[in-house]
This record gives sequence, structure tokens and C-alpha cells, in this order.
Amino acid sequence: MPEFLVTFEGVEGCGKSIQARLLYEYLQSKGISSILTREPGGSDISERIRDILLDRRHLDMVPYTELFLYLASRAQHTQEVIKPALAQGKVVICDRYIDASVAYQGEGRGISKNLIKQLNKTATGGLLPNLTFLLDMDTEIALKRIEREDRLEMEGVEFHNRIRSGYLKLNRENPERIVLLNGMRSIKQIHNEIKDIFEARMMKLE
Ligand SMILES: Nc1ncnc2c1ncn2[C@@H]1O[C@H](COP(=O)(O)OP(=O)(O)OP(=O)(O)O)[C@@H](O)[C@H]1O
Ligand SMILES: [Mg+2]
Repeated sequence: MPEFLVTFEGVEGCGKSIQARLLYEYLQSKGISSILTREPGGSDISERIRDILLDRRHLDMVPYTELFLYLASRAQHTQEVIKPALAQGKVVICDRYIDASVAYQGEGRGISKNLIKQLNKTATGGLLPNLTFLLDMDTEIALKRIEREDRLEMEGVEFHNRIRSGYLKLNRENPERIVLLNGMRSIKQIHNEIKDIFEARMMKLE
């Protein structure tokens, strides 16, 4: 199996985690060795960083602290989990990755996107996803799907609209890697499209 990293991106509640899990279960059922992991988090150290990032009490966290914590989590997770799994020939499915920092800390918080892209490269050693699924939908409808509220979910609708447009810009800049999917359809319809696109991409690599 060639190295294959697939990531899921999109605003809160758009269906990333459920679609990542469905793809993982599908690959398992086909006997394709894979792992399902997430950002921030995915390793012991990174999950501890996740707790700091999402803690509702940390309302005074400044944008650069947020950015560097995400990058710290990403550096550890990439080195400790993603790269070893890829080296073992596993497909790695990751719920959020580099694009989330460009959308959230760049478009959302106003930090230079070029700086973030540069720091992403440093944190990951330049590891890019082979394929990214961007689930796009109305942010208010997406937010209504989720019950709990962490620190970032507490932001207003304008913030989330900036994230959405940040992601759409990334899709326009990287139309080959980042596949735009309409997240308003049923879970099954979206899963079927993801399966088809994934298989077509894998076949090209094999
Ligand atoms: N296509 C869909 N149609 C209707 N409901 C959906 C759809 N996809 C996901 N949901 C529901 O919306 C909720 C959020 O889905 P999920 O946790 O996968 O989103 P997420 O993008 O991972 O959110 P977060 O950014 O908070 O991690 C879940 O309850 C899920 O069952
Ligand atoms: Mg999720």
C-alpha cells in the first residue's frame, strides 16, 4: 500500500468525525490496514494539549498561544503517530490537520496565513495529506447539530463564517488535494461519495 494520508476538514458540526469513522470502518471491512486519529490530540502529549486548547475556562487565550499549542500538538502527533503508521503502509485518516490552522488561526484570528503555512511545514516536516475532504455547509445549521460547547464552539456565527470562507479559499488554492463536499446531504450520501473519491485516488497511486 503506498503512503496515504487522508484528512477531514470543515466547520464545527459539519460531520468530520462521523465521516472519518465511516471511512475507517469501510477500510477495515475491506481488509485495508488503517488508523483513525484526530487533531488536536491523537497521542498522549497532544491530547493533553487538546485539553488546554478546548477548555472553556481559557477565554483569555491569545491568538499566538492558540496557534503555537496547535502546532505543538501537530508536531508531536505527526512524529509519534502519523509518520510511523504511514511507514508501516497503513492508511492514516486524520480528523483535522494543517488546513484547520490556516482557517482558524489565519482567517479566524487574523494571524498571517503565510506564516501559518510556513510553521505547518516546520511542525510536520512538510508532510501533506494526499487527500483532504472539506465538508462545506451553512455554519449555523452545522453548529445546531452539536450539543456540547468547547472554547472555540463558543465563538459567534461571524467567526465560524470566516472559518468557512477560509476553508473555501484553501480549496480554491489546492483544488486537487482538497475535495469540496456538500455537507448538507445525508450521512450515507456523503459517505458514498467519499468512498468513490478515495478509491479513485488510491487506484491512481497503486
Ligand atoms: N450529513 C448529516 N446530516 C445530519 N446530521 C449529521 C450529518 N453528519 C453529521 N451529523 C450529526 O451532526 C453531529 C455532528 O457530527 P460530527 O461530530 O461528525 O461533526 P464534526 O464535524 O466532527 O464536529 P466537531 O467539529 O464538533 O468535531 C452528530 O450528532 C452527527 O450525527
Ligand atoms: Mg468531530
